Amino acid sequence: MDKLVIEGGFPLKGEVIISGAKNAALPILISSLLSDETLNLQNVPNLQDIKTCIDLLSALGVSVKRQGNDCFLDANDVNNFDAPYELVKTMRASILVLGPLLAKYGEAKVSLPGGCAIGSRPVDIHIKGLELMGAKIIIDKGYISASTAQLPNKKLQGCRIFMDQVTVGGTENLMMAAVLAEGITILENAAKEPEIVDLGNCLIKMGAIIDGLGTDKIKIQGVSSLKKASYKIMFDRIEAGTFMTAAAMTGGYVVCNNVNPEEMESITQKIKESGAKVEISENSISVTGNKKLESVKIITAPYPAFPTDMQAQFMALNVVANGVGEITETIFENRFMHAQELIRMGAEIDIKQNTAITKGNNTLTGTNVMATDLRASASLVLAALVANGKTTIERIYHLDRGYEKLEAKFNALGANIKRLN
Ligand code: UD1
Repeated sequence: MDKLVIEGGFPLKGEVIISGAKNAALPILISSLLSDETLNLQNVPNLQDIKTCIDLLSALGVSVKRQGNDCFLDANDVNNFDAPYELVKTMRASILVLGPLLAKYGEAKVSLPGGCAIGSRPVDIHIKGLELMGAKIIIDKGYISASTAQLPNKKLQGCRIFMDQVTVGGTENLMMAAVLAEGITILENAAKEPEIVDLGNCLIKMGAIIDGLGTDKIKIQGVSSLKKASYKIMFDRIEAGTFMTAAAMTGGYVVCNNVNPEEMESITQKIKESGAKVEISENSISVTGNKKLESVKIITAPYPAFPTDMQAQFMALNVVANGVGEITETIFENRFMHAQELIRMGAEIDIKQNTAITKGNNTLTGTNVMATDLRASASLVLAALVANGKTTIERIYHLDRGYEKLEAKFNALGANIKRLN
C-alpha cells in the first residue's frame, strides 16, 4: 500500500488549478443511465472513486471512454440492473444508480451500502421517496430490489416528496428518478449543494424539465426521454478549501484558479476569521497566510452553511492557531477520527460529544499516522505540512479516492511530499 512521506516547514507559494468536483462528477456520470443518447463530459477528475463509478456503469452495460479529463458515455446497451456489494461497499455513491435504473428500466437491484467509517449513513429517505413514486421495494439479504412492474406503463409516478432530513444523495437519486417519471414530482426539504445544481443543469441540457435548483423545493416535470448532451463538471469546493487552508496554515500565498468564489463563501469566511488575507476575483481565490493565525468556531450543516467535508482540515488549522477552537459536527456521528492521529503529532484536542475543542498553539512533530477516511486524510497532510520533521501517512488510498494529483499539486507549490509504494 502506498504511503506519503511529508517533510514539514515549507510555506506554500504559487498557483493551483482546482480539479472537477468528485461529488458532482459521480451523480452526473450516473445520470448517463437515463439517456437514450450519448453524454460527453469535461473536467472529470482522475480519481479512484471515479474509476469505481465507471467500473459500476460498465458492469451495467454502459460504454465508457475516457480521454484525459473527458469522458464519453453511451447507455444504449444497458442489460444488467444489479449493483453488487463489492462495488457499493467501496463507494457509497453507487446507491445513486437505484433511481435512474428504476426510472428507465423499471427494475434495479442495489446492495445496501452498510455502515462506513464516519457513521451509519442509512438510505431510508432514498427508498421512501421511490416508494412514494409507486415503486415496489423489497429489502432482502442486504440488497434493495425495486420494481415498477405494477405501475401504469411501468413508469414511476410523479408526486410530492417531503424528505425528513436534508440529504445530498437522496435529493440526487430522487431528482434523477423524477426526470423520467410520469407527471410532476416536487421534492421538499431538498439539499441545495452546488453539486446538486450541477447535476440538475446537466439533466436540463439532456432535456429534463427542472425548476427550483439551489432551493429547498425542486419541481421536476417528467419527460419521455433524454437526448445527447455535452457538459463541463463544476470545480471541487473541498479541494479548493483544502488548498486555501494549507496556504493559511503554512503562512504562504496560494492562488486557487478555476473556482466560483460565490460557492466558497462559508469556507472563505472562516479563512478570513483565522486572520489570513483573502482576495477574490471572478474565477480565483488567493489566500495569504499570517504568522499569527487565530482559531475559529465552526458548526457543520447543509449548504450554504459550513461543509462537513471541510471540518477535518480546519481542525488541523485550529490545533496550530492561537486560542481555543471549537468544531461541532452535526451531519455525521463519527467524524472525528483524525483527532486521534493529530493528537499523536502533538495536538491537544478534547472531544465532547459532537464538538472538538482544540487548545491551540500546539507545535506538531512528524511521526507515523494513519488515514482513516478521505477528509481525515487531508487534515493529516495539512498538519504534516507544518510539523517539525517527517510525517509518514499510511493508508492513503483514502486520499486517492478524492484528491487528483495531490502530491504533484502540493509539490508544485513548494511542499516536500514523496509517495512510497
Ligand atoms: C454527500 C457527499 C459527502 C458529504 C455529504 C454531506 C457525495 C458523493 N458525498 O454524501 O461527501 O459529506 O453529502 O454533505 O456527494 N441520511 C439519512 N437517510 C438517508 C440519507 C441520508 O438518515 O436516506 C442522513 C445521513 O446519515 C447523514 C445526513 O443524512 O447523517 C446527510 O447525508 P447525505 O447528505 O445523504 O450524505 P451523502 O449524500 O451520503
